[in-house]
Amino acid sequence: GEISNRERKEKVAQQVSRFVKDGDVIGIGSGSTSFLALEKIAERVAEEKLEILAIPTSKEAEMNCSYYGLTTTSLLNHQPDWGFDGADEVDGEHRLIKGRGGALFAEKLVMASAAKTYILVDGSKHVERLGEKFAVPLEVDPRAVHLVETSLQTFECDHIQLRMAAAKDGPVLTEAGNMLMDVRFAHIHDTLEKELSAIPGVIETGLFIGYSVEILTV
Ligand code: A5P
Repeated sequence: GEISNRERKEKVAQQVSRFVKDGDVIGIGSGSTSFLALEKIAERVAEEKLEILAIPTSKEAEMNCSYYGLTTTSLLNHQPDWGFDGADEVDGEHRLIKGRGGALFAEKLVMASAAKTYILVDGSKHVERLGEKFAVPLEVDPRAVHLVETSLQTFECDHIQLRMAAAKDGPVLTEAGNMLMDVRFAHIHDTLEKELSAIPGVIETGLFIGYSVEILTV
């Protein structure tokens, strides 16, 4: 019969765990699919007594690594050989939108440092046109929220939203104490990432374009 979304994610997670080799330094992504991969990797590491180092992309991933007994390190000490992460949207040219979980800054640092990143997605993440379902998240210094909003007027974007936390009456704060602005663009061209990053106060964008990624879909 029809296999569930969870089962699909588990299959991809299993696939990633098979890439682990003794001595690897691995970038550990955030999100539910990455969590499953982390679990499967931890199983292999324990069973085969492998020595690997994990570079987590969020506090959450760091805690999960500790819980599952994976030794963590940071980009200051090691360079990841490879990594894995989820995504919110993937187009036919392997361009990604990430950041629904708010960890885009660290995710991009780790991806940019790794020679290769496996992107773990279920079929629902594939889109014809990037930005079809998701807004592009921008991590913004709190002092720059108005400046960024004004600067965005020269871009072809139709909706700008400061991301609010459902659990409290205020904006979401990232691990670095920044805010998130979710912006919908009419068209996402390849230079948009650089154009957005050039706005003072934009710390990072959720557009991941031109990285060495391999998409794993079940
Ligand atoms: C985190 O900031 C995001 O980029 C995640 O990678 C993304 O939300 C994927 O999460 P799921 O695997 O839970 O869909």
